[in-house]
Amino acid sequence: MPVRVFDDASQLAQHTARHIAALLQTKPDATLCLASGSTPIATFHALVELAQTGHANVDQCTFVGLDEWLGFGPDDQGSCSFYLYRDLFEPLRLRPEQIQYFDAKAADLVGECRKIDDFIRSRGGLDLLLVGIGMNGHIALNEPGTPFTNYCHVVDLAEMTKEVGQKYFATPTELNQGITIGLQHLTEAHEVILMATGKGKAAVIRQAVQGPVTEQFPASIIQQHPKAHVWVDEDANS
Ligand code: PGA
Repeated sequence: MPVRVFDDASQLAQHTARHIAALLQTKPDATLCLASGSTPIATFHALVELAQTGHANVDQCTFVGLDEWLGFGPDDQGSCSFYLYRDLFEPLRLRPEQIQYFDAKAADLVGECRKIDDFIRSRGGLDLLLVGIGMNGHIALNEPGTPFTNYCHVVDLAEMTKEVGQKYFATPTELNQGITIGLQHLTEAHEVILMATGKGKAAVIRQAVQGPVTEQFPASIIQQHPKAHVWVDEDANS
């Protein structure tokens, strides 16, 4: 599986933002699903810059939320949606109807899953799915062992995810479960970008692209997708 290596995280972010802008030019009403987490933040800033300078048009597209910690929402510092709203949705001045996100505080979580599944289906699948990779190989909150054929679902978090997830919060925070896009949505997405930066991601990127394709290492699913890109910086390629 080919991996494209950029000199640094900033070049990767600029390239990815331009790629999204180009997609929006050919398909202005595209359905995009972009990960939160630390890795894509520079891409969000680059995309906002393109939009603010008239080089990306986000007026007609729709953003679908990738995942969320159960019990958290956009107003909770550290949640997935908190960062997406702060770094992308608000600076882009999106209209509410351009954002489709799980309500991870809802009583009916299965209903939330079906809501997002139905929405994605109604749009003919995701035009672009941009994901990072977890330190245990997870994609979104699809933890090791999750069937590749799952659509949206509620998950019990892996211990590593609970630990690593602390970095998003200002104070120690109990994380137990999440709600997430399933890997079947990745399979059905028209295009997928897996991005990673930093030396800490080198081993998991290697396993994702060179290891066996297995549900025990969710990111390995990327090898099966006909239009997947793995874009990393020098450090993550090391
Ligand atoms: P990160 O998260 O970008 O904050 O490293 C990646 C992930 O857990 O998918």
